[in-house]
This record gives sequence, structure tokens and C-alpha cells, in this order.
Amino acid sequence: MTRKRGRVLVAGAAGRTGRLVLDALADSPFVVRALTRDSDAKDALRANGADEVVVGDLLDPDDAREAVLEVDAIVSTVGASASLETIRGDIVDGAGVVNLVDAATASGVQRLVLTSSIGVGDSKDGLPLSVRAILTAAGVLSAKQRGEDRLREAPLDHTIIRPGALTDAPATDDVLVGEGGDSVRGSIPRADVANVLVKSLFTTSTENRTFEIVSRPGLRGRPDRLVDVHWHSVPRVEPAD
Ligand SMILES: NC(=O)c1ccc[n+]([C@@H]2O[C@H](COP(=O)([O-])OP(=O)(O)OC[C@H]3O[C@@H](n4cnc5c(N)ncnc54)[C@H](OP(=O)(O)O)[C@@H]3O)[C@@H](O)[C@H]2O)c1
Repeated sequence: MTRKRGRVLVAGAAGRTGRLVLDALADSPFVVRALTRDSDAKDALRANGADEVVVGDLLDPDDAREAVLEVDAIVSTVGASASLETIRGDIVDGAGVVNLVDAATASGVQRLVLTSSIGVGDSKDGLPLSVRAILTAAGVLSAKQRGEDRLREAPLDHTIIRPGALTDAPATDDVLVGEGGDSVRGSIPRADVANVLVKSLFTTSTENRTFEIVSRPGLRGRPDRLVDVHWHSVPRVEPAD
């Protein structure tokens, strides 16, 4: 028997970073709710540690409202693929994150940790020109900027994590954290990103701040504006009385 305290929603849980967020939340004292658009992913998400699975599309405000019901905190790893189809309409990084933030605000969620990207806003110079051109054409950078802005304006505590290029390599546990825009550039394993997202939930000094992150082995060029974050580890479940 274990005692659970609070509920955390993982938006984008079926994605490559989202599944690693579920791993990082394993044995945490939270009920873990996974959000996916794919009803066929339910069993896999439960096997991956989700206590609850909600099927919904964040581009639909009603689905966003349903996903956040009775939720205390949110980790979002949602993101559209930068393919041509995304040019034609709203994408989750913008309209979807806005719906998520608005629903979270209305529902009294206390904390939201958002995955954005190096290249957004004042970190734009951190992206190679060729990548920036593709993401700009697909509307991804402006959409992510819109999502970031909505979260900063919202009355809940937030942390915005802007990773460099994602890889599927194992976690390095050696993450360089920059703050203030053009700080670090390079790559980082998704597993490191997932650990940073989850630790941010429990590290109050990260509240209402925006960080750029890369792994030390993935660092490109000279880092600037590095900050030393004293990460709190994820608390584990307590035995029931
Ligand atoms: N790729 C890179 O190099 C890179 C670099 C920096 C930052 N990032 C960002 O890092 C994050 C994680 O990237 P990733 O490659 O691990 O992600 P991923 O595997 O592509 O997963 C993204 C997830 O977003 C969900 N999603 C998309 N549209 C949605 C919608 N309308 N409603 C609800 N969920 C939706 C999808 O969930 P379902 O399939 O379950 O619907 C998908 O599982 C993203 O925000 C990405 O933009 C990526």
C-alpha cells in the first residue's frame, strides 16, 4: 500500500520525451495521468507507469479542460512535427499550449513545466540557420513563442525548458543550464530533458524562469550565462499508515 499526494498530468506522454517523463515519475508520490490523442496507446502508457490515461487533442479546448480536471501540476512535452502539413493550420505548440494553459488556469492547477526549444524568442541564435529556416517556415518557432508567452502571463507557477537538438542517447546526467536567451547551444538526450522537466516540478528556485539546456557532451561553441541550479530529487512514495 502506498499513499499518493496530488496528481500530475503528462501532456505528450506517448511521445519520445513524454515516455521518459513517465519513467522519471515512477515511484513518485503522485497519481500520474497521461494525455494522448491515440486511444490505442492506453495499454502501453499504463505499462509505462501511467495511473490514468486521458485521450484528447489539445487543439480542442474541451479536451484540454477535461485533461486537467483535478490536476495539481502539469509537465508538457507536446510538439508538432515540422512537416509541411503544419504550415496550414494551428499546431499544438501554439494553440494547443494556449488551450492547456487556459484550462490549467481555470481549473486551479498550481504548476506547469513546459518543453519549448532553443531557437525560440531570445534564444534564436542558438539554432543553426538551416534548422531555423525549416522551423520558421513550418510555424513552429512562432507557435512555441506564443505558447511560452501565454504561460508567462498566466497566474500559475511555471518553468520553461528550452532544450537543444534532441537525441535518443542515454542520459548523461551532465546538463548545462543557461538562462537569458543566447546562452548554450548544441544537443541533449531526451532522457536528460525528461529528468530536468520532472526535477523542475520539485525545485522551487526554477519557478517562473526560462532555461536553455544542452548536455555537456553535446555542447557546441562557448557557453554563456550558465546558472547553477540546485535540483531537488523526485520524492518517492511513503508507506501508508
Ligand atoms: N526534435 C528536436 O530536436 C527538438 C529540439 C528542441 C525541442 N524539441 C521539443 O521537445 C518536445 C519533445 O519532443 P519529442 O521529439 O520527444 O516529441 P514527440 O516524440 O514528437 O512527441 C510529441 C507528442 O506531442 C503530442 N501531441 C502532438 N499534437 C498534439 C495535440 N494536438 N494534442 C495533444 N498532444 C499532441 C503527441 O502525442 P500523441 O501522439 O499521443 O497525440 C506526441 O506524442 C517537443 O515540444 C519538441 O518540440 C524538440
